[in-house]
Amino acid sequence: MKNVLVTGGAGFIGSALIRGLLEEPGVERIVALDNLLTGHERNLAEVNNRIEFHNADIRDLAALEHLFTDIDVVFHQAAIPSVPRSIDDPQLTHEVNINGTFNVLLAAQRRKVSRVVYAASSSAYGDTVVLPKIETLVPRPKSPYAVQKLVGEYYARTFLDNYGLATVCLRYFNVFGPRQDPASPYSGVIALFCTAALAQRAPTIFGDGEQTRDFTYVDNIVQLNLLAARSPTAPGNVYNGGVGARITLNELWSKLQELEGLDLPPRYQPGRAGDVRDSQADLGAARRDLNYDPRIDLTEGLRRTLAWYRASA
Ligand code: UD1
Repeated sequence: MKNVLVTGGAGFIGSALIRGLLEEPGVERIVALDNLLTGHERNLAEVNNRIEFHNADIRDLAALEHLFTDIDVVFHQAAIPSVPRSIDDPQLTHEVNINGTFNVLLAAQRRKVSRVVYAASSSAYGDTVVLPKIETLVPRPKSPYAVQKLVGEYYARTFLDNYGLATVCLRYFNVFGPRQDPASPYSGVIALFCTAALAQRAPTIFGDGEQTRDFTYVDNIVQLNLLAARSPTAPGNVYNGGVGARITLNELWSKLQELEGLDLPPRYQPGRAGDVRDSQADLGAARRDLNYDPRIDLTEGLRRTLAWYRASA
């Protein structure tokens, strides 16, 4: 793994991955690609002089083919996230998340990239009777976003089977941490809750707040990506990326209030369309095959995230 490229490199997860790659032995050249639709150049501010940044769009196949020259591993993080955003704008999210992913795979195959690690999503599971959710469950996507991310997995597997492109899919479970943008109504709930707590504002909870999530600090996901890029047995597989726990949104807000010494009841609004009720990762496969060991738990992750938002306010 000498030359690596991160799509969505100026995004929240992509920029964390780039920081991880800068510490990784043997990595010599890091290329970041982002169209800055949801990413920000400021996310790469202090590492900018150690990487190559290109303002490019994954819908542009020619640009990808050009940038993928001599690349060993592509970490494909670029996407338009958010379940409600995909419901509001299925066409744009389809174009980026499905057609863009197809282009990334095609360019990687044409440029003889040795591996693509793909950011898949836990949303693919939908509502399952079984918890924690294990990779062998039949997917039941509930939103355009979930379908789009799942199609990417199927394409990744198909590119391995038909063209020999080594691909690994990582199903992220509700990732949070520094640099997650809190500024959009489509932002991840922890970014919204942390900034509400720091401003001493009541957050909004959609539904009864008893839905559960496996909130995963971003450094755990960076570790998972690096392991997936190196493991000789990973290609062709799908792995959950979570911490293996789950917490309700009501509990999450209580925890944040405790950490910040607040007493602010949340406001409740009707539940969101496409929302999954419960989510928790089974980590058996990732631990067994990849040696994945998520070291940062929710409380520690929240402390670090609050500190980051406080410092960057
Ligand atoms: C989903 C996926 C996740 C994916 C992410 C991308 C599941 C289980 N998870 O996350 O894998 O990476 O999309 O965007 O499908 N909420 C509030 N108040 C708010 C905002 C959100 O109560 O102000 C609630 C939502 O209704 C939801 C929960 O918080 O129940 C989490 O929402 P969000 O952070 O948007 O992520 P998911 O949709 O769970």
